[in-house]
Amino acid sequence: MTNTTKGLVITIAGGGSTYTPGIIQAVLNNADRLPVKEIRLYDNDKQRNDDMFLIIQYMLKKEGFAGVHLLSTENPEEAFAGCDFVFSQIRVGGLKMREQDEKICLKNGLVGQETCGLGGFAYGMRSMGGLLEVVSHVQKYAPEAWILNYTNPESIISEAIRRKFPDIKMINVCDMTISIEETIAHNYGYNRKEWICEYYGLNHFGWYRKIYDKSLGRDIMPEIIDKLVNQEMQVADFNAGDKTWQEAFSMMSVITKNFPTNVPNNYLEYYLYPDMVVEHADKNYTRANMVMDGREKNTKEMAEKIRQGVEDNVLNFNFGEHGQYIVDIATSILNDENRRFMVIVPNNGAIPNLRQDAVVEVPAYIGAIGAEPVSLKPIPDFHKGLMEAQVAAEKLLVDSFFEGSYQKALQAFTLNRTCPSARVAKIVLDEMIEANKGYWPELK
Ligand code: NAD
Ligand code: G6P
Ligand code: MN
Repeated sequence: MTNTTKGLVITIAGGGSTYTPGIIQAVLNNADRLPVKEIRLYDNDKQRNDDMFLIIQYMLKKEGFAGVHLLSTENPEEAFAGCDFVFSQIRVGGLKMREQDEKICLKNGLVGQETCGLGGFAYGMRSMGGLLEVVSHVQKYAPEAWILNYTNPESIISEAIRRKFPDIKMINVCDMTISIEETIAHNYGYNRKEWICEYYGLNHFGWYRKIYDKSLGRDIMPEIIDKLVNQEMQVADFNAGDKTWQEAFSMMSVITKNFPTNVPNNYLEYYLYPDMVVEHADKNYTRANMVMDGREKNTKEMAEKIRQGVEDNVLNFNFGEHGQYIVDIATSILNDENRRFMVIVPNNGAIPNLRQDAVVEVPAYIGAIGAEPVSLKPIPDFHKGLMEAQVAAEKLLVDSFFEGSYQKALQAFTLNRTCPSARVAKIVLDEMIEANKGYWPELK
């Protein structure tokens, strides 16, 4: 790590992402702990990167950080040379391809979702190549930099990274546990900053086992389960008005009513109730459409207003916990704070009764040498069985990517819990291969 008194260089890979303003806002809000001297936006889409340059330049000025140097570039050497942190959030194929993932699945009666089910697998096959390329650039131009990765689908990405770069300075994280905790605390009147959570699973596929509240001096998970069963949660401020998130948090009550042993990750709805999810889905207007008409449109409008010289009321983005989480992780590394976060890491015994080479999501303490996962007690058979099948499916998909194997892809699709038969798996796989020409490796 460079001498921080001189200030840090932070590169955002996927600079044009709709999440960039929120992350930069968090960086600026924490400038005392994360002193930034230069921000670089790296994207392979010049138009999106140019738009974001205008937005971030405007923010820096408004927030009194005009001295921070800002650069946007499509050149990896310029983007990464000598940087200290890379925050990665690319979406290979953009929201247009997300729309295809969702709609092809729904058309065939399956869950159509960004990271779960066969849509998530299709995205995984696109995303691995793009992210491995970004990571290779960082290894070449800034081998000492820490990469903090949000790029989805995280389980698949993390498995590909585990194989290709086993010793890399990279931490894969998801904002969902923090968002679930914030929503629970907000609805039922707790302060999540007082919590020590025990959680285990795969990304978007896990359970809480304990929520210890330091101020109350006890495990409050049993009372949270009671509340979840009796009173659905309302989506908290940062997602207010978002119908999809309201439905997701409502589904947590359904899951908990049937399985009241643990607080679940909301994403389990796709694996446990795929029939219900498909029944409620609009096959013609999916989440990708909502995001294009929402976050993506807002981003373009902000840039357009700045281009036209509008001075006030330009910024329109949802700050939330997403940016703060990645910034907290960066400061925990930088200042060796050893704070506790959920991270996506090779198992290596953290869950003792699950294969060692699985990639799992578990608590870890993060400090100057990176993430040190917590060693957990064995997990129950119901969760273990679900996870083992999912791990095998994800591993087969990653095999398929590296080996160019159609057979492994078909096995992965067939094993995915959201898919009822090998016949449907093959139909969807063949459609996905067509739709993803130029994005997937060729499968033989
Ligand atoms: P987006 O499409 O708005 O932004 C992604 C950006 O990446 C685009 O500007 C695109 O041009 C760029 N890009 C695509 N391929 C690239 C490549 N190979 N190299 C460089 N840049 C590339 O998407 P978004 O909705 O802002 O989401 C961004 C990413 O963050 C997605 O992968 C999404 O799933 C992920 N995400 C993860 C979490 C989490 O908890 N892990 C939370 C939110 C978003
Ligand atoms: C949460 C998840 C992310 C996912 C995002 C989708 O933050 O943790 O992994 O990408 O939701 O949000 P969207 O608004 O794009 O559907
Ligand atoms: Mn996530």
